[in-house]
Amino acid sequence: MTAKELRTKYLEFFKKKDHVIVPSASLIPEHDPTVLFTTAGMHPLIPFLLGETHPAGKRLVNVQKSMRTDDIDDVGDAWHNTFFEMLGNWSFGNYWKKEAIGWSFEFLTRELELDPKKIYVTVFGGDKEIPGVGEDKEAIEIWKSLGIPENKIYKLGKNDNWWGPVGQTGPCGPDTEMFYDTGTSKHGENCRPGETCGKYAEIWNDVFMEFNKTAGGKYEPLKQKNVDTGMGVERTLAILEGKDNVYDTELFKEVMELLKEKSKNFNQRDARIIADHMKAAIFILSEGVKPSNKDQGYVLRRLIRRSESKAAYSLDISDPPYDLILGAYLNIYKEEYPEIEDKKNEISLEIAREVARFHRTLEQGMKEFEKIKTKSDKIISAEDAFYLHATHGLTIDIVKDFAREDGFTVDEKGFEREFSNHQEISRAGAEQRFAGGLADHSEIVIRGHTATHLLHQALRDVLGSHVNQTGSNITPERIRFDFSYGEKLTEEQLKKVEDIVNLKIEEDLPVKKEFMTQEEAEKISAIGLFREKYGDKVSIYQIGNYSVEYCGGPHVGHTGELKKFKILKEEALGSGQRRIRATVE
Ligand code: ALA
Repeated sequence: MTAKELRTKYLEFFKKKDHVIVPSASLIPEHDPTVLFTTAGMHPLIPFLLGETHPAGKRLVNVQKSMRTDDIDDVGDAWHNTFFEMLGNWSFGNYWKKEAIGWSFEFLTRELELDPKKIYVTVFGGDKEIPGVGEDKEAIEIWKSLGIPENKIYKLGKNDNWWGPVGQTGPCGPDTEMFYDTGTSKHGENCRPGETCGKYAEIWNDVFMEFNKTAGGKYEPLKQKNVDTGMGVERTLAILEGKDNVYDTELFKEVMELLKEKSKNFNQRDARIIADHMKAAIFILSEGVKPSNKDQGYVLRRLIRRSESKAAYSLDISDPPYDLILGAYLNIYKEEYPEIEDKKNEISLEIAREVARFHRTLEQGMKEFEKIKTKSDKIISAEDAFYLHATHGLTIDIVKDFAREDGFTVDEKGFEREFSNHQEISRAGAEQRFAGGLADHSEIVIRGHTATHLLHQALRDVLGSHVNQTGSNITPERIRFDFSYGEKLTEEQLKKVEDIVNLKIEEDLPVKKEFMTQEEAEKISAIGLFREKYGDKVSIYQIGNYSVEYCGGPHVGHTGELKKFKILKEEALGSGQRRIRATVE
């Protein structure tokens, strides 16, 4: 089976079960400041798991581009990737465990024709960290009724069988995971599903999202019981192709062969790291992100620089074939993800530039690194690691790689502290950064959403209708709004904007949500970023007759629920963009 056939089979299977197929959302979360990348298919769907109505209905299915950096140290083994595609089906307060598990099993054994005898499962067995939620007896009974014997059902705790929230708060719940026995017998006796021994490949996860984790750390029942599932395309394909790792599948093979051909000193693990990281870098670049020292740009920088350091120092490739790698991935993904083709030249240029920038500092950086090693006692301090990063462009992964080779360890936690002191972010991966985000439906954040729409329209009233939102980020503390405009705003303009927003608050305008086709939305001149793809219909919020904007919500019912809007600061963001920071009570 090809990857294309697998994706189609999955979508069609769930379509027959009354699911609506929705497109992949962007790899960069649109309205969520809490994470850097879309980490799972459920991520863009958080508002709907919390109870918002989705325009396409209560049952969805899709293939989602996803990116996780928390497992980056495992990349190079058989099964881990940073970028991957996730097949997922969802129920928003609709079907529940029996259907979800039954359909998963049906798809695996009938559609994919996997041998049911080789399927092992894990279920939530209770955990003292989650009081009041015991063993998932219902899931166990369902698996048994499908013919999975008890000795192949493992009951595990929170670390294995609890999923979510993304960030610190939001929807989460117990899950059941499906594993396939790849038959490789070189693993120890104690190897079991859920351990990284490699024999059992995790292919699918059904999450029963019925809880909301609050900021206080409590697990409260959600308004509705949801199902969220995720199946990795790369892993499933490897199993279908009878491979014991993802790099031998059609999604990597050509790039692995290319690296082998170009290497003077081939080594499988490092070649896999390059193949993985360059694919992730290409997808991130296709979203318009550029290498930098911040946020997504920094992850991108790490991926490219680590690839290049592996290519130059480990595989001994003198002229790394990045354009050939790009060409190979383009062929593999061009139908599914046309954004790569659209940005092909830019991607190639950015990779070449970043590699060149890296080489300009690399030699000196390596000399410094050697000096540090002679004075250190098998440990690279946080300060030294940060110095190598900030002054010599050796990203933390490279410092770790080279340290490991000589038996050194790195004070990684300390490095992250140093890094966050400089960056205002707590961790460099796709992890929690601040409160707020899609999962934050606190009243203050909801008021922030509505104030943002008023601010957007007010800016257009004062500066002209060519002004457009380029980003927004709302936390309980403040609103941040980015927009396209070439000049600094005058005090007078800012005052006008602020006054208009406060006037609209006083007018107590009704806020209404409507679903309509894209054409209908265009007819009534809806403004705003429209990048979330919900299928046929889009979701529009109207504030009285004042503002019409694309948005998933949620919002207040009347603008009178807001009290006072205040602009704190207006500043340049570079390349014809400005940023406003404001508060609303
Ligand atoms: N959201 C779940 C996962 O990523 C399905 O495993």
